[in-house]
Amino acid sequence: MNSSWIGKSIVSIDQFTMDDIGDIMDLTENMRNIVVRRGTCDLLKGQILANLFYEPSTRTASSFMAAMQRLGGTVIPINEVQYSSVSKGETLVDTVRTLSLYSDCIALRHHNVGSAAIAAAACSKPIINAGDGIGEHPTQALLDFFTIVQKFGHNISGLTVTMLGDLLHGRTVHSLVKLLTMYGVKFNFVSPASLALPQHMCDELSGRRVKYSTHTSLDDVLRQSDVIYVTRVQKERFTDEAAYEAVKDSYCITPKTMSFAKHKMLLMHPFPRINEISPEIDDDPRAAYWSQIENGMYVRMALLAMVLGKV
Ligand code: NCD
Repeated sequence: MNSSWIGKSIVSIDQFTMDDIGDIMDLTENMRNIVVRRGTCDLLKGQILANLFYEPSTRTASSFMAAMQRLGGTVIPINEVQYSSVSKGETLVDTVRTLSLYSDCIALRHHNVGSAAIAAAACSKPIINAGDGIGEHPTQALLDFFTIVQKFGHNISGLTVTMLGDLLHGRTVHSLVKLLTMYGVKFNFVSPASLALPQHMCDELSGRRVKYSTHTSLDDVLRQSDVIYVTRVQKERFTDEAAYEAVKDSYCITPKTMSFAKHKMLLMHPFPRINEISPEIDDDPRAAYWSQIENGMYVRMALLAMVLGKV
């Protein structure tokens, strides 16, 4: 692994080269083997992760904790910031600087775009962005990519990837689009008009001559998709309840939908799902969300070992 990652923060997918991503995929596979064969190891024994979450989380927070503990480290869990001094009005910078004096690395989820970059600039320990508002979610994109590579192998150039749902607020979509852009996939963006991918991202894709098309109906692209990446409409990002109500049930993947999809394809979702995917599909071999959830722990083990200089 490239040693330049030691002590570095992970804020955006923009920081990674294809070589970095290849190394992370290899390391993730090694971490998977450790867990499958032995359960745990001592790689990060004595190291402490602070898990600082200003927004709700099930998978990201608990997989960071499990990752650290599987590598022999320990965790300061601040998953309910209302019980910390944040509720007294402490600034993000002061909270992060404090935790950096007690820990070796901080996983941060915060409601503001750019918060991970601000935290990284304010402290000397690595910050891992676990979601910054509607900005990015780079560790999710890496676990999504690992899941895609497990299915299709490393040569994914030419795949058709359909992003469905709330593409405006979906930070997992933003990071995954950036990542997959490096690999020459073709995108379909399917959303209600009001939840389309942000214009600056469309401009960037056009500037890089990435092939993409936009739609409001999944039917337009269902049969040609190798990956369908479904997202929840992000209720908490709306200021207007009526605007949310108008789009909240725009799409639902049912067994009937899957009957028109390719035989070899992946149905993905970062979770939580509300009602975008019918649970009747959960045992369909194309449903990849349980693998995504499992892979999240392996990817985060790899990233923690990488920034803490143990690989
Ligand atoms: C996502 C998130 O928090 O951005 N969840 C996750 O981390 N797996 C998606 C969402 O909240 O809809």
